[in-house]
Amino acid sequence: MKTAIVAGCRTPFVRSGTVFRDLTAIDLGKVAVREAVARSGLRGDDVDQLVYGTVVHDTQAPNIAREVGLAVLPKTVPAFTVSRACNSSNQAIADAAMQIELGLADVVVAGGADSLSHVPITVSERLAKMLVEASKGRTLGARLAPFRKLRPKDLIPVTPAIAEHSTGETMGQAAERMAKENGIARADQDAWALRSHQLAAAGIADGRIPSEIAPVYVPPDFGTVAETDNNVRPDSSLEALAALRPVFDRKFGTVTAGSSSPLTDGASAVVAMSEERARAEGIEPLGFVRSWAVTALDPAGQLLQGPAYAAPIALDRAGLSMKDIGLMEMHEAFGAQVLSNLQALSSRDFAQRELGRAEAVGHPDPEVINVMGGSIAIGHPFGATGARLTLTLLNEMARRDVQFGLVTVCAAGGMGFAMVMERR
Ligand SMILES: CC(C)(COP(=O)(O)OP(=O)(O)OC[C@H]1O[C@@H](n2cnc3c(N)ncnc32)[C@H](O)[C@@H]1OP(=O)(O)O)[C@@H](O)C(=O)NCCC(=O)NCCS
Repeated sequence: MKTAIVAGCRTPFVRSGTVFRDLTAIDLGKVAVREAVARSGLRGDDVDQLVYGTVVHDTQAPNIAREVGLAVLPKTVPAFTVSRACNSSNQAIADAAMQIELGLADVVVAGGADSLSHVPITVSERLAKMLVEASKGRTLGARLAPFRKLRPKDLIPVTPAIAEHSTGETMGQAAERMAKENGIARADQDAWALRSHQLAAAGIADGRIPSEIAPVYVPPDFGTVAETDNNVRPDSSLEALAALRPVFDRKFGTVTAGSSSPLTDGASAVVAMSEERARAEGIEPLGFVRSWAVTALDPAGQLLQGPAYAAPIALDRAGLSMKDIGLMEMHEAFGAQVLSNLQALSSRDFAQRELGRAEAVGHPDPEVINVMGGSIAIGHPFGATGARLTLTLLNEMARRDVQFGLVTVCAAGGMGFAMVMERR
């Protein structure tokens, strides 16, 4: 049983702290899921399951999938949340495909959302312990007693870091390390970033990107309607990028704000169906899931190199090789990460040393990689990016009449995801 992707959309992706500052990931997810189902032509009660991804969890509503589903689908549609760092909505689509292929569902909505404007800010470990102890006190004295040991620094709030829990290294520091270890020049990172902005600007201007976007009416007065991504800089230049200071290693670094994906708010969703059901409903699929793979590396190594390991496995499972791939979408966490992955894919030495393969895996011509720009320009709401990439790939495969496409996404924890899509 094949899994068809029949429709999808996303909200605008906007820099955190801007137009969606008062919206949560749940609010954004509602817009994407409602609109994706509407675009499929199906009704809410056709949906058998909702699988939704997020990375920065709302501690008050940890099962984002159920909260989104309760708001926009019939209450009888079960929902579960997946969290595989930046692979979360890729995993949601893979889970949808597994449910369909096992015959457990015919129609599954999959996607993800994140709001970096709404991060859970918690209290220090010491204050947390005091609060727990105080809550058990039976008298006023017993409730106040734990706070006798309170020090001013216990009151400092704790904000989540975009850092590896196991090593303490941030994503940006890991990208910096990869740039150094793989010899990725600053000028090449900047050129990739510029290309991302220019191609995204072209995709916006000619309507390809807007066609994937569901507008968001912004509370409280709904006077503002967000319809477009707000991180794309059509006027960016190599000179402006070259003038930026490195962020993660100020002295010897090469990674700047310009060659990094920004902190972003947004949501995405696709509608997956069994091929049989799609045919029965007379729905023309955008394309099909052919295969997928996930790999994991030691986070202390090349943290964001996962796609170079996952892509060859997904291709093997598809019975294809890289030369069959006519279009590719690679998540751009950083210019240094994209170029490190492409370098590894084209390296015979990497293939022999790391993959036990005689020849390099290869990669398509950069002309057919991220043809409408990537996460550096468009932004990267962690849980939403995977479904954005999948939808963009499928839409562009149709425009160019490409039979096979590849999505890759690197993720925290040293994970890498790859999915091969086919049109017919
Ligand atoms: C890199 C990072 C720290 C930068 O944050 P920031 O300082 O808020 O970035 P800004 O957008 O304000 O950019 C800083 C400066 O660079 C400039 N700049 C950024 N991109 C530019 C571009 N393409 N062209 C020209 N200038 C650019 C901005 O105008 C700004 O200039 P200013 O200080 O004069 O206003 C932040 O985006 C980040 O943490 N990104 C990584 C997120 C991450 O790890 N994601 C996980 C990956 S999977």
